[in-house]
Amino acid sequence: MDEKKKIRIAVLMGGYSAERDVSLATGAGVIKGLRDAGYNAIGIDTAMGASQLSENKIKELSKIEENPPSNTDLSELDASATIQTVSSPDLKNVDMVFIALHGGMGENGTIQALLDIVGIPYTGSGVLASAVAMDKVAAKRIVSAAGVPTPDYFVKASSEINDMDELVKAIENTIGFPLVIKPNDQGSSVGLNIAMRPSELEKYVKQAKEYSDRVLFEKMIEGRELTVSILGNEALPVAEVIPKGGFYDYQHKYTPGLADKIVPAPLSEDETAEVQKLGLIAFRALNCRGYARIDFRYSKDKKWYFLEANTLPGMTRTSLVPKAAKAAGIEFPGLLERIVRIALDDFKRGKKR
Ligand SMILES: Nc1ncnc2c1ncn2[C@@H]1O[C@H](COP(=O)(O)OP(=O)(O)O)[C@@H](O)[C@H]1O
Ligand SMILES: [Mg+2]
Repeated sequence: MDEKKKIRIAVLMGGYSAERDVSLATGAGVIKGLRDAGYNAIGIDTAMGASQLSENKIKELSKIEENPPSNTDLSELDASATIQTVSSPDLKNVDMVFIALHGGMGENGTIQALLDIVGIPYTGSGVLASAVAMDKVAAKRIVSAAGVPTPDYFVKASSEINDMDELVKAIENTIGFPLVIKPNDQGSSVGLNIAMRPSELEKYVKQAKEYSDRVLFEKMIEGRELTVSILGNEALPVAEVIPKGGFYDYQHKYTPGLADKIVPAPLSEDETAEVQKLGLIAFRALNCRGYARIDFRYSKDKKWYFLEANTLPGMTRTSLVPKAAKAAGIEFPGLLERIVRIALDDFKRGKKR
């Protein structure tokens, strides 16, 4: 315990992405969990530069609003504040960083690269795995090449989608309706919709374009939603998500009571083993480190489909990874401690990430 107290950890949170609010909630949970585990933790919002978050501010952060912050709200934040964060005395005085950011530059390898440059150890995946996992199409290509099925899809540059009749034809000739329309590199279902019919395409494409310069059109897989949390080199118990009405969109993800999370998922032993194996293959193919959460659909004809890998999944106490860890007998502070240890050991070994 005493030795741990000496380890000082800066929790990076907030940031500029549409998942800013979710990240602040994750960060507040992580700070508390790290302190419960005996570490000395401070919080820093990378959109606010070099200053530590006050204790009062941290206490207010656990609630997530119904909708994500708008692009206009986010554009008022100054992205260069991250440079101040990384070079601030607060960061020089810590032993490591716990990355509690989600989406955008926090999850796509950019912050990881800055931390590599200044030589500060950090939790989770390195630059390459972060960048590839954040790019849904890149991740699908790599993971399917490793033998894990993923729904059929096509991708288009946002600037090249103008003619809706042409798009309808392209869809009808390939994946068909209904389909899922996603910004290629967002999270938390922001800008993501399920189009049942051609008349819905225009509005959904417009939403996806707001969040990415590429739009992913993916075959909709009817069936169940299961997710595999990986810690270290092992798959934790599988979680099933059952949204109440609709699909697992932003509101169903973050409004308490709008989705059931069942861990361990009601699957047979063989089914569990199969999806855990596929989750581990995806984790390794992407070269993730420490922890991650791999999302799957399980079709009515009992086939598994990889949707995406989250290198910085939600980490409040009620998030899926902490729930999966708990089902494996690992309480939240213990989970954070494992993630911290892996990062420090890796850094000590001088492994290039
Ligand atoms: N191909 C699909 N078939 C059915 N549902 C999907 C599909 N793709 C996404 N979804 C639904 O949308 C949610 C978010 O999609 P996902 O690809 O995981 O992106 P995000 O990064 O926003 O979480 C999923 O959890 C699932 O409920
Ligand atoms: Mg997801």
